[in-house]
Formats: sequence, C-alpha cells, structure tokens
Amino acid sequence: SQYKIAVFVGSLRKHSFNRQLAHALQPLFGRKATLEHVEIGDLPLYDQDFDHDYPAQGKRLKEQVRAADAVLFVTPEYNRSIPGVLKNAIDLGSRPYGDSCFAGKPAAVLGISIGAIGTALAQQHLRNVLAYLDMPVLGQPEVFLQHKDGFFDNQGGFGDAGTTKFLQGYVDRFVALIDRHKA
Ligand code: FNR
Repeated sequence: SQYKIAVFVGSLRKHSFNRQLAHALQPLFGRKATLEHVEIGDLPLYDQDFDHDYPAQGKRLKEQVRAADAVLFVTPEYNRSIPGVLKNAIDLGSRPYGDSCFAGKPAAVLGISIGAIGTALAQQHLRNVLAYLDMPVLGQPEVFLQHKDGFFDNQGGFGDAGTTKFLQGYVDRFVALIDRHKA
C-alpha cells in the first residue's frame, strides 16, 4: 500500500476495545495505508539518564515511527487523561532532546471508552502533547466512541453501518492530511 501508519494503542489489556477499534479501521484504509502496531508494553519507564545510552526498545520504537508516513493514536481515557503507558511511549520517542521521532509527522487521534464522553478529555490532553511535539494533527472530524454491546460485530468490524460510514469519513480525511504532507 501507499503509506505506512505507525499505530499506538494506549491500552495493554488483551481484549482492549481500543485495540479492536484499531484493527477494525484497517479495512477502511483500503490500499492507501497499512497500519503497523507499535509495541509499548515492554518499554522501560523513561529515565533521562537513557539519553546517554538509549534502551533497545526505545530505539526500536523510534525506528518504527521514523519509517512510517504518519502516526495514529487509538487510546482509552484513564482518569480523564491518557494512560501512563502511552505517555511513557511518547516520552521515549521524543528524546534525547532534538532527536524526537515525532516531529513533523502527520497524526490523528481517536478512542473508545465505556464512559459517555468517549475519551474526549484524554484526546484533548493528547492533542496538547502532540502540539508540543510539532505534529500536524487532524482537527476534524473528532471521534468520541462509547462502547456498548454489539459495537463490534463478530467479524471484527463495526456493528452499525452509520458508525462505519462516519469512520470511513475520518479515515479519508486522515489520508488527505498525509497526502498534503507528502506533496
Ligand atoms: C477507566 N475508564 C475510564 N473511562 C472513561 O470514559 N473516562 C475515564 O476517565 C476513565 N478512567 C479510567 C481509569 C482507569 C485506571 C481504568 C482502568 C479505566 C474506563 C475505560 O473506559 C474502560 O476500562 C475501557 O475499556 C478502557 O479501554 P480498553 O482497555 O478497552 O481499550
């Protein structure tokens, strides 16, 4: 496919709704992009002393993001912010100072939660972080999803045609953002 998109899922849980969401998005990209999942569960806790001798998992993460055309963040909301595991992964990718893997990469955020506001506050916190990292982030449409029974069908797709259509529009806008940055 045309683009490689590095995907960060902000949950380590095996049956994570956000991981299911990331997988269900892949077909909507068609031939335009392949989603490559970035492992964040085995990363050490960022320590500024790493900057003299970076851990292998941190180097791996940075190489994976550098090789990608864009970054997609699919995250739950934990206590009205992003999970610590996701912040840790971002911190690792952003250092040593001046050697961030994120600068200039087009990005998009979305998330699903069991709560009614569907990760809105987590996404807002994340947007603040990504702005500092100098990432052009898709502004619209915003995607705040609330998980209910039947949200995903048993084929790993979306249970509702309206949801599929809405997310297709989101994916198309994200691809258009990447196209603009490649042009
Ligand atoms: C949550 N959850 C949650 N939901 C929400 O809408 N807003 C919130 O602030 C929080 N806070 C929160 C904190 C912690 C520590 C946990 C474990 C959970 C519930 C959350 O939406 C639910 O567990 C989702 O299933 C998490 O996403 P994954 O793991 O299914 O992707």
